[in-house]
Amino acid sequence: MRLLTGIQPSGDLHIGNYFGSIKQMVDAQKSGETFAFIANYHAMSSGNGGEKLAKLTMQTATDFLALGIDPEKSTFWVQSDVKEVLELYWILSAFTPMGLLERAHSYKDKTAKGISANHSLFSYPVLMAADILLYSPDIVPVGKDQIQHVEIARDIATKFNNEYGDILKIPEFKVQEEVQTVPGTDGQKMSKSYGNCVNIFGEEKKQLKTIKKIVTENVAMEEPKEFKDCNVYNMAKLFLNPNELLELQERYQRGGEGHGHFKLYLAEVMWEYFGEYREKREHYLTNQDEVRDILNHGAQKASNVAREMIKQIRTVTGINY
Ligand code: ADP
Ligand code: TRP
Repeated sequence: MRLLTGIQPSGDLHIGNYFGSIKQMVDAQKSGETFAFIANYHAMSSGNGGEKLAKLTMQTATDFLALGIDPEKSTFWVQSDVKEVLELYWILSAFTPMGLLERAHSYKDKTAKGISANHSLFSYPVLMAADILLYSPDIVPVGKDQIQHVEIARDIATKFNNEYGDILKIPEFKVQEEVQTVPGTDGQKMSKSYGNCVNIFGEEKKQLKTIKKIVTENVAMEEPKEFKDCNVYNMAKLFLNPNELLELQERYQRGGEGHGHFKLYLAEVMWEYFGEYREKREHYLTNQDEVRDILNHGAQKASNVAREMIKQIRTVTGINY
């Protein structure tokens, strides 16, 4: 069973990213063959370029390795290091009706807001189809927003196969339904675009400052407090085992402590939870060559698969002459 996923290099990771997606990716390494790449070509369609993109690519690779992507178990590489993906992108574009792309949310939403789109945003789903179909995964785990992109990849693959035979594997997607939405400091979904994030690898003091900003109910210190809809509790529960969770519930119900105490507790448990990952990250930060070696090795492994596929495709399409 092969799983494939693409990771946008988009900056500092927050605990919503971790519990909503990264943790599942790391856990999936136990049960199947995992292919994971940093989607640096894709990042260009959102206007990231130049030094910033290079930096974000290394930062994302470093953070994912620190958080548990295991190069022994996973094939982990940077998208642009396997050039075959761009060749397949072009070939697949000949099997992509304009209407299919015009209906894609990523493009439709932007143009509906009056933002002028460039061609890379328009053709993003074709590159994503190439990312997937080049490596014949069985499953692509995705958030709800990415389902349509996998459906487009399936449509394109079917059209290609209708013309040239059973070459491309039609991928299944797996939606991560069971994942809860992690709340941000203001109680909305935690997201970079809302500025309400608690980052995984922030400085300790800064992290505490962010946690102190979490919006809570105004209840007197001695009064019992509701834990169910409390943003502090809902964040803390991500880090606690059932016994610890019960203890925290009792502290809420008992009264005598303010939300400030619970915030301090949250900062403490979170700092401890990511301790081992912080150490690993420090190691990779001081040994960036090791990160580059891992990525190069991953690119070689991915290239071996990609070359086989592109060879077949070049033959059936008549590009090989
Ligand atoms: P952001 O909204 O901060 O830009 P991304 O869109 O880059 O985050 O999300 C990357 C991954 O993390 C996606 O798979 C997404 O589903 C997951 N994710 C992001 N925010 C949350 C959240 N608050 N709760 C659960 N999962 C999240
Ligand atoms: N579009 C995905 C996102 O924004 C990233 C991505 C690029 C991807 N290529 C992929 C995900 C291939 C899965 C498979 O999150």
